[in-house]
Amino acid sequence: MSVLVTGGTGYIGSHTVVELINAGYEVVIVDNYINSKPEVLDAIQTITGKKPRFYNLDVIDKVGLKKVFQENKIDQVIHFAGLKAVGESVSKPLEYYRNNIDSTLSLLEVMKEFSVKNLVFSSSATVYGEENDFPYVETMRLGTPTSPYGKTKLFIEMILKDVNHANPELNVAVLRYFNPIGAHPSGLIGEDPQGLPNNLMPYITRVAAGKLDTLHVFGNDYPTQDGTCERDYIHVVDLALGHLAALKKLESHPGFVVYNLGTGKGISVLELIHDFEDVNHLKLNYVIDKRRPGDLPAYWADASKAKRELNWETKLTAKDACRDSWNWEKHNSGK
Ligand code: NAD
Ligand code: UFG
Repeated sequence: MSVLVTGGTGYIGSHTVVELINAGYEVVIVDNYINSKPEVLDAIQTITGKKPRFYNLDVIDKVGLKKVFQENKIDQVIHFAGLKAVGESVSKPLEYYRNNIDSTLSLLEVMKEFSVKNLVFSSSATVYGEENDFPYVETMRLGTPTSPYGKTKLFIEMILKDVNHANPELNVAVLRYFNPIGAHPSGLIGEDPQGLPNNLMPYITRVAAGKLDTLHVFGNDYPTQDGTCERDYIHVVDLALGHLAALKKLESHPGFVVYNLGTGKGISVLELIHDFEDVNHLKLNYVIDKRRPGDLPAYWADASKAKRELNWETKLTAKDACRDSWNWEKHNSGK
């Protein structure tokens, strides 16, 4: 079986490529390095003993994409490629709509031309919007994501549903990720944000490494156990394995299916900080700051559908992720 992985040198993509290769899949990656680096390919080779075929290409570029499908027999596709910074999408909505939506349209058109029928798409818990109570369940009516980034995920889910409706032969698994953290236990691949990190875990590791002074906890007056926001943090290796489970599901021709990928429980910002301190035997310099606009107090996944239908559930804990993120930060991040 060969799998085309768009965005395969990115954070979640690279971990998924490792698990795909370990499971015996042939992998072809398309990425334009807009948010990743060529060194990731060497790291994948060191971990797995195999270097996947790679095309430096914008997924929007249909001519280039067709060449990829001509040169390789592609059986299935996992579509990670996309811009993902929530705040940046507010100031650059056109870039986000163009990149995320056009790349998906080009991919769908080329898949149709080459009769490739199985697609896994990276969506986000953000599609549940503010309107829904948690835990989020796949059957909920979708809400309105606040950022243009989140809206691209919602719009793409709608596009995929329409395309599947018109062509029921196309099988689509939409995976709604909760909060991915952690890194490969080898410490050779992980999350490597450029500039000031927006997300909690890379900020924590950079404070621990002394690259940033102080972690700012955004608000401790939320209606939660300790007043800080609660999220469903999922180890990226568990998340990667969820994609393999979804590919297997697509082999049974299910049509359009949606799964939450999360642990099924929320933990607070302070709990994550304390887990990080405990497992790595260090102290983090943090202060309580004001709320960050747009943050929801708490949400997590109802992860029972993925367990029932994909036979997948998380095995790693937030502490495992804290250990692996720190290992990655110490050895490789920013190299
Ligand atoms: P990432 O930025 O590390 O990886 C995305 C990869 O796609 C990068 O390597 C980038 O260079 C590439 N890319 C972007 N646009 C491209 C294009 N037009 N053509 C070719 N390559 C392109 O992000 P990630 O955290 O690995 O996320 C992967 C996917 O999962 C994204 O679609 C993201 O929106 C989604 N997602 C991520 C999170 C998260 O918190 N990390 C949560 C929910 C959903
Ligand atoms: N936080 C801090 N300090 C920081 C960074 C974050 O206290 O320096 C807090 C946030 O306020 C939030 C929690 O840590 O309560 C998690 O924040 P992240 O930015 O790591 O993650 P979000 O839950 O805000 O964002 C995630 C994904 C997005 C997705 C969004 C909405 O990263 O892709 O959920 O579902 F769009």
